[in-house]
Amino acid sequence: MHLFAKKSVALLAGGLIAVSLSAPSFAADKTLYERLGGKAALQAVVGELWNNVAADARINGRFKHTKPEAFGGQLVDFLCQASGGPCQYQGKDMKSAHTGMKLTDAEFTALAEDTIKALNKFKVPAKEQGEVIGMLASLKGDVVGR
Ligand code: HEM
Repeated sequence: MHLFAKKSVALLAGGLIAVSLSAPSFAADKTLYERLGGKAALQAVVGELWNNVAADARINGRFKHTKPEAFGGQLVDFLCQASGGPCQYQGKDMKSAHTGMKLTDAEFTALAEDTIKALNKFKVPAKEQGEVIGMLASLKGDVVGR
């Protein structure tokens, strides 16, 4: 074999090995954060969630003094960290953030429904939607009735 050809075969084999080592063997190896599409996708979903909340008479009164940019940024960081992403949420923990609000079950459900609407708008698959809602549900006790 010509020396050049030998070299290219070796390079090609090296490339294949590198690819097979770096590619995850199962999609399940990816964090929820990655499967949602990373930070840009979270920002899009949170932006849409904010639109839904602002139009939702069941809960928009709760946010009448809220600055969307600051709150949206906090929520993106929180969801990013909670879904296994590289962000560091710097805000209050969920108990402290909602203490004194006396939020109800119905208000919690309203926010969950507004979240599902936003996830649907961006065609987030059922599996990932289930994981997002499961994560929110696991925090319900910290958020409601405090
Ligand atoms: C599991 C569900 C929820 C999560 C993950 C969540 C997340 C957050 C986060 C990250 C903050 C910011 C805290 C900070 O900046 O230190 C916050 C604040 C707040 N949340 Fe929630 N929340 C949830 C449920 C709710 C519900 C159901 C309501 C009302 C319907 C609500 C109303 C508020 C309000 C009014 C604030 C203060 C916003 C401001 O700074 O003006 N939250 N929440």
